[in-house]
Amino acid sequence: MAADLDFTGRTVLITGAATGIGRATALAFGEHGANVVIGDIDDRGAQTAEAIRAAGGKSVFQKTDVTNPEQQESLVALAVSEFGGLDIAFNNAGLLPPTAPLAEQTVEDFRRTLDVDVTGVFLGLKYQLAHMAEQGRGSIINTASVAGLRADPFMAPYVAAKHAVAGLTKAAALDYAAQGIRVNAIAPGLVRSPMTQRWLDDPETRERVLADSPIGRAVEPEEIAGLVLFLAADITTAITGAVYPIDGARTTH
Ligand SMILES: NC(=O)c1ccc[n+]([C@@H]2O[C@H](COP(=O)([O-])OP(=O)(O)OC[C@H]3O[C@@H](n4cnc5c(N)ncnc54)[C@H](O)[C@@H]3O)[C@@H](O)[C@H]2O)c1
Repeated sequence: MAADLDFTGRTVLITGAATGIGRATALAFGEHGANVVIGDIDDRGAQTAEAIRAAGGKSVFQKTDVTNPEQQESLVALAVSEFGGLDIAFNNAGLLPPTAPLAEQTVEDFRRTLDVDVTGVFLGLKYQLAHMAEQGRGSIINTASVAGLRADPFMAPYVAAKHAVAGLTKAAALDYAAQGIRVNAIAPGLVRSPMTQRWLDDPETRERVLADSPIGRAVEPEEIAGLVLFLAADITTAITGAVYPIDGARTTH
């Protein structure tokens, strides 16, 4: 079974790998032999690629805004020109708007959240699927959230966006199942990353956000990486259209 997590010769495209979940997943794919193409609006994506190369792997970074169609298309083209194709994609870039009850959310924050978290995933899927359909194979994983399975308080734009990511995942899986392409999503609970570090650093907020966590802690980015590699691997060939909670049983009650 261990050999099935060997991605040697496979190319994976990851968005949002400058920090957090994307970075941990990029490093894990690199450790398991994959060629890793990183797209991020944050130049620290270059450091992730450098860390993979320093460990003996292959990786390139291209500055990418996931809301920009040309830049998303160009990232797929980079995978093809650098490594000869694209086998796996992890559409992970995302942002969390300020928390507030719905009437206090700004129109700008709502639009920006949908643009990055939903349009960003749509554009990734659009160009990745076009390439994978020609190849007749591929595996795509999108980052949704437990906020894509049920509502969290004071996060209306994010809840709407992550439900849309779950919907896009199911729709894409149906459209491409017969062509040998799998599309799944992950739905993390609270993960320790730059997105949530300020909550975890403040004892009062930490207690509140962990109150409904049966495991009593945040999930680590490396634990999310394990699920992404599992879904990308050839051991899960019948899994498509699924949205996987990875939340330490937070949504089971
Ligand atoms: N941290 C959590 O608790 C949690 C829980 C569930 C889901 N998520 C989701 O996981 C994903 C990764 O988040 P994270 O926790 O690692 O936080 P993070 O802030 O460390 O990572 C987000 C990444 O997305 C990139 N990004 C943001 N806007 C972009 C854009 N327009 N174009 C390209 N890249 C852009 C950032 O630069 C960063 O590298 C996000 O989709 C987030 O919504 C996080």
